[in-house]
Amino acid sequence: MDLATAAGQQRFADRLLAIMATPDLNALPAIADYARYLTDTMAHCRFVERHFPQTNPKASSGAADFHCKPNSIRELFPIIHQLYVLKSWGVDGDFAEFGCFKGYSSSMLSYACAHLGLKMHIFDSFEGLPPSEKSGYDAGQYAGSLDEVTDHVTRFGAIEAVEFHKGFFADTFRDWRPPQLMCLWMDVDLEVSSRDLMVAADRLSPEATLFSHECTAGIFVEGAIVTQPSPDNPIPPMLARHNELQRPLTGHYVAGYTGAFWPRDTGVPVINTEVLMNLARKLA
Ligand SMILES: C[S@@+](CC[C@H](N)C(=O)[O-])C[C@H]1O[C@@H](n2cnc3c(N)ncnc32)[C@H](O)[C@@H]1O
Repeated sequence: MDLATAAGQQRFADRLLAIMATPDLNALPAIADYARYLTDTMAHCRFVERHFPQTNPKASSGAADFHCKPNSIRELFPIIHQLYVLKSWGVDGDFAEFGCFKGYSSSMLSYACAHLGLKMHIFDSFEGLPPSEKSGYDAGQYAGSLDEVTDHVTRFGAIEAVEFHKGFFADTFRDWRPPQLMCLWMDVDLEVSSRDLMVAADRLSPEATLFSHECTAGIFVEGAIVTQPSPDNPIPPMLARHNELQRPLTGHYVAGYTGAFWPRDTGVPVINTEVLMNLARKLA
């Protein structure tokens, strides 16, 4: 099947659902495993969405970081799905999240990692954003302490899958590089933060996938990514680093403010969000 296009993915989903009608899934262990993963992780995402703390007691009600759930399941579930796909393709490496705030996305994603036996690295200052000139953000915004995030991931995610790395990225990566990575998710708001963490891109497998917040549908133009540098745009440093590595990226829009990226020549395409969400709904 042509899994690189949404139409091919839809045919795959339809066929899968037809096969699932069999009374004996025992006879189809790979399909049972995939369907169980999607059903279980989606149920978990819904639990987190419903019960994770709503508001940040340390922020005023009009502040950007007043709400503790800055992402949607529609944005995060394609990451959860891609982890399964990469694992099933045998792509080596761990998963890394850059930017956790209070641990909302970490809670959903760590649970998926535990399911797959993947290690998840969480990189954050745990003091909020660094200073930046001319961005719409203030230093210290989106702060969640290491204790708070540990508590939240223990209650809502899978802490056993997680290794925390505390510090501003510029310091963390001054003399150290992460282990090999198969996927990274960055929600870091700032160009400077993306530039500082991009040394981690050197540790990505050639087949790896990147997801980033701060994307709109308009930047994805027929497989090309068209975006202009600005202090609150983390995408250009990611594109530039991959060009330097001779691994130019392609990608597509996921949902909300999230986009998916993979090396045009060696990457594993990410499923169309509509196809995935419909499949998950029908499996539930
Ligand atoms: C918008 S929040 C992340 C939201 C989170 N993904 C969620 O679902 O709740 C941005 C995070 O990036 C972190 N961050 C941004 N730039 C950073 C840097 N240069 N070094 C370390 N942490 C940084 C902030 O501390 C904050 O936790």
